[in-house]
Amino acid sequence: MKIDDEEIYVMTLIMAAGKGTRMKSNKSKLIHKIYDKELVKRVAKLAHDIGSDDVVAVVGYLREQVESVLGDTVQYAYQEELLGTGHAVMQATKYLEGKKGKILILYGDVPIIRKETLLNLIYKSNKNKEYATLLTAIYENPTGYGRIIRDEGGNIKSIIEEKDANMFEKEIKEINSGIYCFDIEELLNALKELKPDNAQGEYYLTDVIRIMNDKGLKTGAVIVEDNTEILGVNDRTQLELLTRVLRMRINSEHMRNGVTIEDSNSTYIHDDVEIGVDTVIHPNTTIKSGVIIGDNCEIGPNAYIRENCVLGNDVKVGSFVEIKNTTIGDRTKVPHLTYLGDTQIGCDSNIGCGTITCNFDGKNKNRTIIGDRAFIGSNVNFVAPVTLGDDVLIAAGSTITDDVPSKNMGIARERQINKLRKNMD
Ligand code: UD1
Ligand code: CA
Repeated sequence: MKIDDEEIYVMTLIMAAGKGTRMKSNKSKLIHKIYDKELVKRVAKLAHDIGSDDVVAVVGYLREQVESVLGDTVQYAYQEELLGTGHAVMQATKYLEGKKGKILILYGDVPIIRKETLLNLIYKSNKNKEYATLLTAIYENPTGYGRIIRDEGGNIKSIIEEKDANMFEKEIKEINSGIYCFDIEELLNALKELKPDNAQGEYYLTDVIRIMNDKGLKTGAVIVEDNTEILGVNDRTQLELLTRVLRMRINSEHMRNGVTIEDSNSTYIHDDVEIGVDTVIHPNTTIKSGVIIGDNCEIGPNAYIRENCVLGNDVKVGSFVEIKNTTIGDRTKVPHLTYLGDTQIGCDSNIGCGTITCNFDGKNKNRTIIGDRAFIGSNVNFVAPVTLGDDVLIAAGSTITDDVPSKNMGIARERQINKLRKNMD
């Protein structure tokens, strides 16, 4: 990848071999989801998004599940026995040998770190010519984490694990996030020197820092500004916590860009959604990845905007409306109680309450196409495939099975008859 106009090879290694028993799950922890994306898939996407030249996942426990999610988007190394984080990296040696450049270490269960943070770590490691650059954080309660040992000059010396730390070291509040950027050649050299001579009998990746410093190789650290970025998922309460953190981060970003969100706590905007300025999102709304919404729209309350939807400007999608794979033109209103699937609607149309596109015939999904300035009465079914021209009116309660040409009215319902009731007086 390009770093400060220099072409530098960067491999990202995703640690994805661990067990995750605290999830109490029959599935691998790494394939649990935040919104609609698996944890490990999020990490792999990050690795690609920053421009990694290669991405390798170290898999082990329930590897088939992890591999079925990641497919051929990454290469794989296999860790048969979980003998520590250093041992996990050793399993990827074949991918590293002969390469010059950097290796970034990520974790399949640390999925909401920012792209910018990772790029900054790589940039800094390159600029300062460091053989190891750690991402650290300051924690009020550092219990459980590896502590960063610095000398009087503030230089990183080593990392000491909680279980190996003495009472003074346990007081240290700077912790190891577990995310690093290493020089590939010197990492390989250091890995050869790792020994499992510690409280847990494991090959610690953290020992690489001490080994490098003993050799006089420069190391350094970047302190993460937002501690929530390095949160990991070990159990389901943490899964919920990370979902919440990500939700607030995404929602805040939209608000900074000019979108009004009435209640962030009940607004679920997935990754990679575009929303124009002055659009208002009412509570209990879910908007899935990839959706595009124009300016000055009104969405919700209780709206569900699913995959592949594009909304123009000044569009209303109101309460209890679900839309999927649907395009809606400027100023069109879908105010309430409606399902639109595989639908295309032009501009200035009004879709009445209770409209349903019957898009699935049991085998295939079929499209409903509605032109400009359509007025669709309440409680209308469109049995797709069906096409309506411009300026069409559909009578309330109609089940539309045939196309309706422009400037026509479609009515498809039984005529009403009134009969005198018996025994009424
Ligand atoms: C590790 C760090 C610690 C840091 C902490 C941050 C070491 C020795 N310690 O501790 O300094 O503060 O992360 O969370 O690295 N894994 C494997 N194979 C293994 C062992 C682990 O793939 O053999 C994976 C796990 O699935 C997990 C990650 O590596 O995703 C971290 O392993 P874990 O044993 O949880 O390390 P910690 O004890 O938390
Ligand atoms: Ca939960």
